[in-house]
Amino acid sequence: MALRLRPACITDLPAIYRGEQDYIRSWEPDHEDAWRLQLERHLTRWVENFERLTVATIEEQVAGYCLWTPEEDYAELCTINVSQAYRRKGIGQALFYAYAAAARQQGFTCLRLSVRPDNPARQLYERAGFICVGNDANGYLRYELI
Ligand SMILES: CC(C)(COP(=O)(O)OP(=O)(O)OC[C@H]1O[C@@H](n2cnc3c(N)ncnc32)[C@H](O)[C@@H]1OP(=O)(O)O)[C@@H](O)C(=O)NCCC(=O)NCCS
Repeated sequence: MALRLRPACITDLPAIYRGEQDYIRSWEPDHEDAWRLQLERHLTRWVENFERLTVATIEEQVAGYCLWTPEEDYAELCTINVSQAYRRKGIGQALFYAYAAAARQQGFTCLRLSVRPDNPARQLYERAGFICVGNDANGYLRYELI
């Protein structure tokens, strides 16, 4: 399995759209309508942060991606997704470490993210040293690495 991480290119956007849709349908089906109504806002965020959008490929096929944004004094992981067929092969971890390394390299000492309490992605974050620091207003857990 030849895993490659690279900056996103414009032709990745349909795969990213499908990945986000898959996440919503799998984890937050009640929010799909709201997510769809906000699609223009999501697209704007992906495009405005394009240089922080990393894609994982296996034999030129998009296998996953992650996006982070610079906030006031921290780097927020916005989304991380690996296609079902490629999960539990270390791709999520590779994307996650790429986010952490890029954020550190750009001077952020604090990294943050939100995750549903029932999402096993938590184990990935905890293994990387992130600590749960509470809940946000929507019931997501807030994780932080300083
Ligand atoms: C979360 C996600 C990105 C992980 O990607 P992945 O490529 O499968 O992750 P990895 O193979 O790198 O896993 C790294 C570690 O994370 C943990 N982990 C990941 N998925 C897990 C699962 N379903 N159950 C339990 N632990 C899991 C394990 O500790 C794993 O190490 P191990 O395989 O040696 O036990 C992937 O499951 C995904 O795309 N999920 C849907 C989108 C999503 O929920 N994103 C997170 C939103 S906050």
